Amino acid sequence: MSRRSESTVIAHITDAHISPNGKRTAVLKDRSVEILDDLVKQCTEYVTDLVLFGGDNIDNKDGETEIAAFLEIANRGPRWLCVTGNHESVHDLVGSGRVSKRTFAAAVEGHGISPGRYSFSEVVKNVRVIGLDTTLYGTGGGHVSDDTLDFLADELRFAEEEHIVVLGHHLLAAPWAPYRLDAWDKDYLVSNRDVVVSLLATNPRVRAYLCGHHHASRVHRIAGRGQGGGFYHILTPSPVAYPAAGRILRFEEEGMVIETIHPRLEGVIPQSLEAVMSGRKAQRYELLGTPRSFTEYVAGRDSDNNAVLPYSGPRTKGVYDSGIERRMSSVVE
Ligand SMILES: [Fe+2]
Repeated sequence: MSRRSESTVIAHITDAHISPNGKRTAVLKDRSVEILDDLVKQCTEYVTDLVLFGGDNIDNKDGETEIAAFLEIANRGPRWLCVTGNHESVHDLVGSGRVSKRTFAAAVEGHGISPGRYSFSEVVKNVRVIGLDTTLYGTGGGHVSDDTLDFLADELRFAEEEHIVVLGHHLLAAPWAPYRLDAWDKDYLVSNRDVVVSLLATNPRVRAYLCGHHHASRVHRIAGRGQGGGFYHILTPSPVAYPAAGRILRFEEEGMVIETIHPRLEGVIPQSLEAVMSGRKAQRYELLGTPRSFTEYVAGRDSDNNAVLPYSGPRTKGVYDSGIERRMSSVVE
């Protein structure tokens, strides 16, 4: 598919965990600065209209230093917006070098959120982007407050753009299903996801919900009914954890084209692979009892990384007969 010059191009970079003085754990915090710098450069080279940072933008062990490094890189690239993740969702009374959610929001004011206002709604060309605060103080898990749900309902009701994309940090659906792990539900999912999904499904121009937090790659359609409806749940990996990536979304006539971008730096992929295998998530994955390996699970299939996603969904009559549907066939499970 050729790229039209007027196509809207949006990048999704989540869980960058910027940490200039960070040490390597299950994620490559020690390389986080050069990795984000390279991804933002790729966004500039791709002529991206907008970069969305999906939370856990900083690791927040050494907050002020990390914010400065994050801003320096983000401001070198295209227009950008961000939401917070659990790493930035810290109360005002914090110590040990960490910064509060309010302090982070003040530092990035003008880029989506601001102190006391942690959701946003902005337009880029023919796409409305709604940033949703899914964080809850005191937990790594997700929750969307009643006020935020009201905000979302209003934005969905009055949006006039051709496409709507919603950005949050936590997941609305479990990529590990049909296997079950309650600890992962609690840690990774939005607790009141049913109401959020129902609300998003009320507007047929909602194309995708973009999230991170789980450090894995997965694209699947949720909330569909009968022959249509629903939207894509797009989980993007962290650039500092295997498979170490960000995403580019292009809004074409035929559908949303997704591409995965990896840091173009020596050794990142093997180092991130070695690091992630040392972490708790790899160990807990074994509890699922799935025959698929952990590395295959987090890296996703081709259809999770490079695909054409028809706006109306792969089940819509007519799409079945096209080449687009054939490329989509492995996304539908
Ligand atoms: Fe997170």
